[in-house]
Amino acid sequence: MPHLEIQRTDDGSATLFVPELDEHYHSVKGAHTESLHIYRDCAYLHAAERSVHRPLRLLEVGFGTGLNAAVTAMAATAERPVHYITLEKYPVEPRLVERLGYEALVDASLFAALHAAPWEQPAAITPHFTLEKRCCDLLTAPLPHDIDIVYFDAFAPEKQPEMWSPEVFVRIFEAMSPRGVLTTYCAKGAIRRLLQSTGFAVERLDGPVGGKREILRATKA
Ligand SMILES: C[S@@+](CC[C@H](N)C(=O)[O-])C[C@H]1O[C@@H](n2cnc3c(N)ncnc32)[C@H](O)[C@@H]1O
Repeated sequence: MPHLEIQRTDDGSATLFVPELDEHYHSVKGAHTESLHIYRDCAYLHAAERSVHRPLRLLEVGFGTGLNAAVTAMAATAERPVHYITLEKYPVEPRLVERLGYEALVDASLFAALHAAPWEQPAAITPHFTLEKRCCDLLTAPLPHDIDIVYFDAFAPEKQPEMWSPEVFVRIFEAMSPRGVLTTYCAKGAIRRLLQSTGFAVERLDGPVGGKREILRATKA
């Protein structure tokens, strides 16, 4: 596990910084704002309106601090229940998670339950949100099937290019259900073209307030 430091982002919420990679877990313009906009709103809530599948099956690349999972669990209801499968190669130490202060942003007991949940098996966190944490490497692990929503939250392509390869996106595409949606904070032209060549229809959406100008949403035709 690389050394990690806690840093404050522009919306007041904390994130983790990886000195070895010179990379953050979230946008420095606002960790909480990023999670809410790119993942909860542009992927989960958008897909929930369009898909008839229940529960919605969601795949996250990189559990990290659990912030994306927490904002999604807070939004899950009986009308849009979620089975949330998250892949993480380097779980963050609980002592560090406790110092992030996310209890002020999301329900504290829910956040604790996400982190206390066992790895490698589904755990009902609320009546409408089931979490399945898998400690594995995206590059080699088998992917779950019939995925309706993908939160593609890997470190940046310049820092971890192997996570943004054609092979990875083909595997994810094949794991998704028809009309499934993937969002990512990365709006680079090369990544947009890669998603298109994989078979996705790709939209450029406005980024979070105060953050990136654009983000990407890819839909399986
Ligand atoms: C940008 S951070 C994700 C932040 C996270 N979604 C959150 O809400 O805190 C990228 C995450 O991908 C994880 N990761 C890096 N390489 C990986 C791999 N090969 N397979 C699975 N996870 C990986 C990192 O440990 C890190 O937690």
